[in-house]
Order: sequence, then structure tokens, then C-alpha cells
Amino acid sequence: MCLGISLSILPGGPPLYYGLPFIGYGFILFLPKSWLRKVVDKYLEAAPDVVIVRMPFVFAVIKNDVVKEIQQNPDCLPRPRINYTDFLSWFATGTYDLSFCDGLRTSKTDQWQISRKLGIASVYAGPKSKMAQKMGHTADAFLKKIEKHEGTDWDPRIPMMMSKYQEVIHLFFGSLFKEEDLNLYVRGVIIGTHMGLFLAFFFKFLPMGLFRALNKLIKYVTGFDLGYPGDIYEQFLLRMYNEDKASHTESDSRDYLEAITASRKDPSELIYYLREVTYVSIHAATHTTWHSMLSALSMFALYPEVQQRAADEIQQAIGRGEVTTDSLDKLSYLKAVISETLRLYPAVPYPLRLTKRATVAGGFQLPRKITVLPLIISENMNPSRFVDPKEFRPERFLDDKGKFFHDPNLGTFSRGKRACPGREFSYMSSSIYLTKILQHFTVAPPSKNAKLSEIGADFFTSAGRLDELRFMRREGAPPIRDVQFDTRLSTIFREVIAAQGKKNI
Ligand code: HEM
Repeated sequence: MCLGISLSILPGGPPLYYGLPFIGYGFILFLPKSWLRKVVDKYLEAAPDVVIVRMPFVFAVIKNDVVKEIQQNPDCLPRPRINYTDFLSWFATGTYDLSFCDGLRTSKTDQWQISRKLGIASVYAGPKSKMAQKMGHTADAFLKKIEKHEGTDWDPRIPMMMSKYQEVIHLFFGSLFKEEDLNLYVRGVIIGTHMGLFLAFFFKFLPMGLFRALNKLIKYVTGFDLGYPGDIYEQFLLRMYNEDKASHTESDSRDYLEAITASRKDPSELIYYLREVTYVSIHAATHTTWHSMLSALSMFALYPEVQQRAADEIQQAIGRGEVTTDSLDKLSYLKAVISETLRLYPAVPYPLRLTKRATVAGGFQLPRKITVLPLIISENMNPSRFVDPKEFRPERFLDDKGKFFHDPNLGTFSRGKRACPGREFSYMSSSIYLTKILQHFTVAPPSKNAKLSEIGADFFTSAGRLDELRFMRREGAPPIRDVQFDTRLSTIFREVIAAQGKKNI
């Protein structure tokens, strides 16, 4: 096998890919992207379905049908605690003791079940029609940004990311946050995400105490406080909670914040859950949909016939009108494009799990407490599930009558008790954004030879996006609606920052 020395560590255990002394296969993360792509392709083609790989931290890497098996195995429901989630939660919320990824303390009590239940209840707290309306407002704000760059080659990456944060905050807190205020917070979260991702591959666990001591030193020397966004958020939540409590009535469940306020009576418990679920939502709902929107827009640019068919469908179903939940039901082809994009470019490419006890995967023995890394792309590119898997063919998600269906072979949202609870949210959000964009603009690549980026920021994933896009106004397009930003959140946010005596991070 080209990838390394293969040994057996356990009787009945999977082959071990040991790699170089000390760093294992960690070095491949530093290969040029096109090489990394080749290594991944070779791995998908030739490696066994279950392998233990040292990066240097040890993963059981699984692929093909074993992914499904693991996702539904009751002994593999927990997630490992890794630096990634510790750091991110600290940067995002000011605490790292959250149960989203089953911290060591909480995994003993299966705390994730409670958080998950509450998270789902709050994400889908309001009526769908209101959710669609709020998503529509944020999409309108994004259209205004496109308008500014109309006809030029434009990289929508950062604006799209900010728009996704605006969307989630709008849904959960009921206000459309101004981007300039959001900047302060989002930048910190992005730093946390990338530091965490990077470190996660090298150290399974880095004591937070050590990290905080390091932060103090950095702050002392440079004045730069890494924990600043989390501090802001902590204070911000307390202010929001107190203000909402004052105006809250029992029967009033207007949005996420109110739904949680109504479900928890004890303030200390409430703040804990608020932080917890907000962190999940901010991370799980923004970065995923951001990624998939950029890919879908790029696919429209590269496949004009697909774009035309989606635009025709929108024209027939909605015309120049407003997108509603009813009209979304008629957009089968658009949803098929979203699915096909997510098949080729799964936004969560390796949703980690942890074995609770020794178990079996793909006929091999796996030890207790080993981190399992499922390669979603191996499922989505499996020719026995999807014919000609490298081809972009949205029609594969349409039935004989041309109606969209969720294909259970698609691995992108996972399966079983820990499957993604945000699938409907993400289809709704993407459909609304894409509908609005195609009602107003056509999307084109910056040049005829433009190619999708080979590999994204997340090491193994194909980002599947063009670095720049060109938007042109459609003839007869309706005017773009003005967007009302609510100043309440911004005011609270600015006051919190001012109270901390700091201006920026
Ligand atoms: C393109 C969009 C999305 C993709 C591809 C995606 C994919 C995934 C995957 C693969 C998992 C791990 C499942 C597992 O381990 O079995 C996951 C977990 C999760 N997702 Fe999503 N997701 C998306 C959007 C969203 C959105 C919009 C939300 C919230 C509104 C959300 C909330 C969550 C939560 C809370 C979890 C953790 C569930 C748990 O640990 O029990 N996701 N997602």
C-alpha cells in the first residue's frame, strides 16, 4: 500500500497506518493542495474501509458503507472532546465547558441528548412562514451587496459569511444585526475556529489552563486579548436575558430567545443553555450553509444550463413575487441542485464520533474511546450509490415525476440519533437565498477557464467554489427591497463593548 506501513494493532483490529516517526501522517496537511487532493483520491480508491491512522493523534478512519454502520451504532454516539471545539466555544461564548461535542465531563452523562433536544426545539421554535420571512430579509441585505459589485469580478466569501451570521442571529434574537457591529465578534470566532481546527489535528487535548496562561502572556506583551469575543458574548447574553425577561410574557414565544426563556425558569440554568445552544447554532448553522451557498452559486456559474433551468422554475412558480414556504415546495429542481452540490461538496466532511466501548466496524474490532473519522465523501462518490459520481447531475435527486426527494444514500447530513437536525433549515435558507439571487441576477464565472478551488480550508474537503463570481442584473428583475436593520442588538452590543473599555480585537 502506497500510504505507509500497515500493521495490525489488535487481534481482529484494522490495519494501522503508522507514517513517519512522531508525526505520523500529519505532514500531509502541509502538502500543496493539488498533491493533497491526489493523496485523498488514492486513499479513497485503495485503502481498506477501516484503518487506524496516526496524524500524530490517532483516528479510526472509515469509509464507504462502514460510515453508515458507525453512524447507527449505539456504541458510537458520543463525540470526542478535541481542542477544536474547546477553543471555538471559548472564543465564541467565553466558556469551553459546553456539551455540544461531549466534553469529558458531560459525555459521562450523555448531556448531548438534552442539548440536542433543546437545540432542535429552539431552531424550529417559530412558525415556518416567519422563519422564511426572516431568512428573506437577510437574503435581501445580501442582494444589496451583490448590487454594489454588479458586473465586476467579486469574491462573495466574506460577505456571504457575514450574511449567514446575520441570518442566524436574526432568527434567534429577532433582530437584523448591522454588519459593522457583527465584525467585531465574527472575526474572533473565525480566529478560534481556525486555531482549533489546526490544533485538533496535532493534539487531542491541550489543557485550557495552559492556553489561558498563554493568552495572558500574549495580552501582557502585545495587548491582544484572544478571549475578547467570548467575553463580549457572555456579557451580551446576560444583558439580552435581563431585558427579555423584563418584557417577556408566558404565552409569548416569538423567537429563539423567548423560546428558551420560556423553557427554563432558573436563570443560571437558562444562561447555561442559552450559551450552549447559541454556540451550536452559531457554529453549526452558519459555516455549513455559508459553504454550501458558495458552492451552489459556483455551480450555477459553471453550468449555465442548470442555472437557466432553475431560473425558469422560479419564474414559473414565483415570478417576480416574494418567496414563501408554499412557493418553496414548488422548487424541486432548485432543491435537487442544492443536494447535488452537497453531494459533491459535503459541508461537514468528517463528523467525528467516539467509541463508548469496544465495538465492531466493518468486521474489525475497534477499541474503546477511539476517535472515529467517517469520510462522507467516500459515500457520496461511491459509484454503486450514485452513477457517474464525478458528474454534476442534479436530476439524480428528482423522481420519475420530476419531484425532489431526499435520497437516503446521500451521506452529507449523516444518519441516526446524531444526524444533523438542521437539514430542513439549510434547504430552506439556501432555497430562499438562491431564489432571490436568481430572480435578480445571472451568475457567471470571472473567465471561461475559471476552475473550482481544489481543496478548502478544512484540509480534506473540496471547497468546490470559484474564487470570484460575476453577477449581472436580469432584464425585468424586480427592484431590490430595502432592508431595515434593527438597532436594538447593535446598541446593546456597543454598550457591552464600551463597558469593557475596548474598541476592537
Ligand atoms: C449544509 C448544511 C449542513 C450540513 C451539511 C450539516 C451536516 C451535519 C453533520 C454531518 C453533522 C454530524 C452528524 C453526525 O455526527 O452523525 C451535523 C451535526 C449537527 N448539525 Fe448540521 N449540517 C448543516 C447545517 C446545519 C444547520 C443549518 C444547523 C442548525 C440550524 C445544524 C445543526 C447541527 C447540530 C446541532 C448538530 C449536532 C447534532 C448532535 O451532535 O447531536 N446543521 N451537521
